[in-house]
Amino acid sequence: MDRIRIVGGRRLNGTIPISGAKNATLPLMIASLLTEDTLILDNVPHLADVGLLQRILGNHGVDVMVAGKRPGDDPNSGRTLHISARTIVDTTAPYELVSKMRASFWVVAPLVARMGEARVSMPGGCAIGTRPVDLLIMALAQLGADIEIEGGYVMARARNGLRGGEIVFPKVTVGGTHTALMAAALARGTTVIENAAREPEIGDVADCLNKMGARISGAGTSRIVIEGVPGLHGARHSVLPDRIETGTYAMAVAMTGGDVVLQNARPELLQAALDVLGQTGATVTPTNRGIHIARNGAGLAPVDVTTAPFPGFPTDLQAQLMALMTRAEGTSHITEAIFENRFMHVQELARLGARIRLNGDTATIEGVPRLKGAPVMATDLRASVSLVIAALAAEGETTVNRVYHLDRGFERLEEKLGGCGAAIERISD
Ligand code: UD1
Repeated sequence: MDRIRIVGGRRLNGTIPISGAKNATLPLMIASLLTEDTLILDNVPHLADVGLLQRILGNHGVDVMVAGKRPGDDPNSGRTLHISARTIVDTTAPYELVSKMRASFWVVAPLVARMGEARVSMPGGCAIGTRPVDLLIMALAQLGADIEIEGGYVMARARNGLRGGEIVFPKVTVGGTHTALMAAALARGTTVIENAAREPEIGDVADCLNKMGARISGAGTSRIVIEGVPGLHGARHSVLPDRIETGTYAMAVAMTGGDVVLQNARPELLQAALDVLGQTGATVTPTNRGIHIARNGAGLAPVDVTTAPFPGFPTDLQAQLMALMTRAEGTSHITEAIFENRFMHVQELARLGARIRLNGDTATIEGVPRLKGAPVMATDLRASVSLVIAALAAEGETTVNRVYHLDRGFERLEEKLGGCGAAIERISD
């Protein structure tokens, strides 16, 4: 199993290219199930989760072709996938595959919308508290699907197709909103989604679906209206930049000090996080190439932050901010309001000398003058990268074990950080 070795204490200087967003790529790939034509996706990141979803879609009969690079192509640009779901050969998504990646559960929506039936295993994925799918199921039921749950599988049926309806989410859910959008795109009549998630990845998927012939308005607001259409066609779409990767590297620079341009990053995708970084004392400047982030000399100020659905501070940057605050000059409070028990990184950060107390959903972080390298364990995707951030500022050597978690969501991490002067290497044995 690969490990990552980091020797801390170097500043970061240079340019880091930001990849396409994992959390948009996955639902976009799943949306390919809605049409028998080819969907072409550009700027797709090279990630383990993308490969895994490719396998899951392959099981339904979907062909995915990865276009080769051409001379003169930017080596940092993402890949292009040609995805064709011409014939769906199987409407079952089995436990062995779905249990490895939670988002793959979302195939239930396009399968039932296009084929009238789907049988999908209850999901697994990152171990960050209980993550039910009741609201996704509720959304499908509102559109007329018959739902049965048996032997760990959700069976959704709509022999005569789905029909438009009103879906009111009692809680903001990204997965629920993606599911509702995809199902409603092919339903007969109009669907209204109230209290929809406003995450930029929802807007990206809605844009792509509209290019495929869907009639969706209001994506990016909390009320989305979908006029169902009888069929969708092929399209070409470029995945938006990854705001979580952007925020992660911005925090790494705030941690080590230095001066970095996050190329292709879009500030409006993570304004809340950039505001918090400004409060800590980092300088954040939008430029026409991306975002310029710097911290020179001065110490880090502590902050109080609560995670929230977009446009609030994202839960997917909570662990990274906590790593940063371990070195603040004072005491910070971070409250996790989206997922219970998303604090696995706390005990690992403690191995590096962090002082963090947990009380329910709130962590109190007392800044320390120095962290010291140690062997640590990656637990989930975002938690793992928080250990990398801490290690970049720790004295001596840190080894991060179980790097496969990182590979799920961060493309060429050691190359991107190493290119800016970090002492970081992957050890494969
Ligand atoms: C997505 C993101 C994930 C991010 C999260 C919140 C992807 C692949 N994953 O996950 O990285 O951390 O949004 O921004 O895009 N809930 C229910 N019932 C449901 C569904 C959700 O109670 O049926 C609850 C969850 O337990 C959680 C909250 O709603 O407390 C938000 O979850 P949701 O937005 O659905 O997260 P995901 O779509 O799983």
